[in-house]
Amino acid sequence: MNEDKLKKMIERMVRDAMAVNEANVKDPPIAGSADVRKPLHNFKMNINKEKMIAANWKMNMTTGEARVFAAKVKSMNIDRKEVVIFPPIYLAPMMINALAGSGIRIGAQNMHHEIRGAFTSEISPLMVKDAGCEFVILGHSERRHIFNEKDHDINLKVISAINHGIVPILCVGETLDQREQNATFRIIRNQLRLGLNGTTPRQSTSLVVAYEPVWAIGTGRTATPEQARNVHSFIRETLTQIYDYSTARDILILYGGSVTPENTESLIKEKDIDGFLVGGASLSPDKFKRIIELC
Ligand code: 13P
Repeated sequence: MNEDKLKKMIERMVRDAMAVNEANVKDPPIAGSADVRKPLHNFKMNINKEKMIAANWKMNMTTGEARVFAAKVKSMNIDRKEVVIFPPIYLAPMMINALAGSGIRIGAQNMHHEIRGAFTSEISPLMVKDAGCEFVILGHSERRHIFNEKDHDINLKVISAINHGIVPILCVGETLDQREQNATFRIIRNQLRLGLNGTTPRQSTSLVVAYEPVWAIGTGRTATPEQARNVHSFIRETLTQIYDYSTARDILILYGGSVTPENTESLIKEKDIDGFLVGGASLSPDKFKRIIELC
């Protein structure tokens, strides 16, 4: 049996198992989650801030470290900025308590598109919400390249997040090879078109896009303001084609990839850079606070 057939067979078996599970579940079905391909909700989350600064902690921080971090950032004035921390999911409820009253919100680093079932180690949109998360990072390049997530999988997650009232941060970005082959715009266009397939302009008012060139992540090699500007304005243009001008204008587009307090000012000046998705530097409360202050 070839690989494709085997994959399809496994997918069918999993679907069947899910159907049995679903039939045995007593909870009422959640509107919109039975078929993730059909968005039912048209909701608008409250993201009317001008800038957003997000901390992607990845697989870092333990309870004690996270508590110290929360205590250090809690009292800062975030003013008209949206600040969101994405800790490992098990820390989310503790962080929400520790940051109560600060205005800082919490998100999840990934999720499965289904609401429940036989998917060992996965976390569902219901669980993400149950943990108090209001945002979810989807299609991060580490998920795409290390865990082999495809645009189609990411699209299912985007729609499922929207259907459950969770704001997706859709990550897009090219590898160094792709940049050197002048394929950057083609890659970004495809990732946006496929990732957002089936979403409506109204739903996209609760969407954030993050441009994270793979070659800039964790390398200390940040995109220059000009490189970032070109891709961000291309993303805005593509969002205009997918939706319309006024919708695209309101979608926050973040830059991510070796953001530090030292390069924040030059990047944030660019017209289409609406904030940052920060990795390494967000593990230091002092650096993260400085990045927020500079935005
Ligand atoms: P670094 O800031 O460590 O390069 O990571 C960026 C990132 O992947 C954020 O999602």
